[in-house]
Amino acid sequence: MRLCVVGAGYVGLVSGACFADLGHTVVCVDTDRKKIEMLSNGEMPIFEPGLDALINTHLDTQQLSFSCDLAASVRDVDALFIAVGTPSRAPDGWPDLSAVYAVARSAVASLRDDAIIVVKSTVPLGTGDEVERIVRELRPDSEICVVSNPEFLRAGSAIRDFQRPDRIVVGAEDGPARTVLREIYASLIARNAPVLYTSRRSAELIKYSANALLATKIAFINEVAELCERAEADVLEVARGVGLDERIGAQFLNAGPGFGGSCFHKDALALARMGESHEAPMRIVEAVLHSNECRKRAMVRKVAAAVGKPLRGQTIAVLGLTFKANTDDMREAPSITLITGLIDAGAQVRAFDPAGMDAARRILPMEVAYTKSLYDAADCADAVVLMTEWPEFRRIDLGALARKLKAPTIIDLRNLYEPEDVADRGFSYHSMGRAARRQVEAPEPNGNGRGSGKRNGSAHSNGHTRRTAVDLVERAPGWSKQRNGGTSTRRGI
Ligand SMILES: NC(=O)c1ccc[n+]([C@@H]2O[C@H](COP(=O)([O-])OP(=O)(O)OC[C@H]3O[C@@H](n4cnc5c(N)ncnc54)[C@H](O)[C@@H]3O)[C@@H](O)[C@H]2O)c1
Repeated sequence: MRLCVVGAGYVGLVSGACFADLGHTVVCVDTDRKKIEMLSNGEMPIFEPGLDALINTHLDTQQLSFSCDLAASVRDVDALFIAVGTPSRAPDGWPDLSAVYAVARSAVASLRDDAIIVVKSTVPLGTGDEVERIVRELRPDSEICVVSNPEFLRAGSAIRDFQRPDRIVVGAEDGPARTVLREIYASLIARNAPVLYTSRRSAELIKYSANALLATKIAFINEVAELCERAEADVLEVARGVGLDERIGAQFLNAGPGFGGSCFHKDALALARMGESHEAPMRIVEAVLHSNECRKRAMVRKVAAAVGKPLRGQTIAVLGLTFKANTDDMREAPSITLITGLIDAGAQVRAFDPAGMDAARRILPMEVAYTKSLYDAADCADAVVLMTEWPEFRRIDLGALARKLKAPTIIDLRNLYEPEDVADRGFSYHSMGRAARRQVEAPEPNGNGRGSGKRNGSAHSNGHTRRTAVDLVERAPGWSKQRNGGTSTRRGI
């Protein structure tokens, strides 16, 4: 089929490339000329694993092309997908739908009589009705249908999510439109992708409800993590025990620094606004938004507690700036709140991210010093904060890191390491939702690697100590002196 996808952002690009890969002929349209020029030359404006290869493959096969000319691009298409941004409006948090309506207004005159407009952007209840009103106003005699087909892909695994969706939601009021969508997704349906046909309004609400529920799970486990830290429990054990319940499921129960990204906050806020406007208050969603803001701000206090002295004059290395690993997307990233808070408190921040440095430079305070590697970020720092779960952050050479740091303190906001393992390598280690007894101090440098006695005895009774005792790192020059000189009183939190 011939398709046009308008909006060459995360969703539009992934969808366009994947539609081309399904065998359709696709043109992606955007108003950003520079972006379209780059894409036409096979250069990527965003980082998304696998996207570069997929786009270049289908530029070569000519299944995929890019254009700024909307009218020309939609002339013969079977379906026009609208995938433009719908960011929160600053004053009221309601999604800004101006781009969605602008595309509908500009495209409709050039569309075929039987074309379908598919709204893929995340849009509030009734947006499809308004697009349909625009169509009826401008093309009263046409049979153009308006369908809602929300997108559920996740940054970092977007191509896989598109190709193996949990479900394809098609919100369409009439049969012919459903038939066209079934044909567009035929290859995925043949591979058993479930398709859910709903009314257009239900489809719009499914997207918001799904994102708000995922955000709720994250905010919930973060609050449980806080309780665990204060009550001698371990959030990893609690999350596992809870997640094994099939009714709940294990995903999105990882304690962390608060959710970020372009969607969760924006969509939860929009759902709360929809509730208000329909006099059906979304109290849980409002609480989730509040909880998450508190969580993000609490991370500054957590770093201060781990460092154990006023932040003014301290140097903090922050590893991972984007809202999660495997993306360059900085939108609503918890690192923004953390780094702004650290700088406001007088700390110096040295930062590294494997993919998001350019995006970070545009958003973070100008005082941040960016480095070429995670080890450079740690150079002479008083503590390292692990913000995201990039594979390379799980495999840090802790010996090399210790040699770089002024004080060997790790604040692991993603629970990437085992507390005992890191402590046995000489670090003061602070993680999320693991009881204070597991926020362990490093063993004495001259000891046998079995701990300093600051650690609770029970922490020694497993295999960790034995495995890592032989593996003690060579420490940074001067570090033993420092620790013997009385700086080993770092508090657990
Ligand atoms: N990012 C995600 O992971 C994700 C996942 C599912 C759904 N969504 C939803 O999909 C939509 C798009 O999100 P995104 O992250 O891809 O946004 P984005 O900001 O990355 O991309 C939007 C693109 O639309 C273009 N654009 C804006 N106005 C335009 C116009 N009038 N004509 C042509 N192009 C125009 C912009 O230049 C930009 O390239 C949003 O509604 C979002 O909520 C996003």
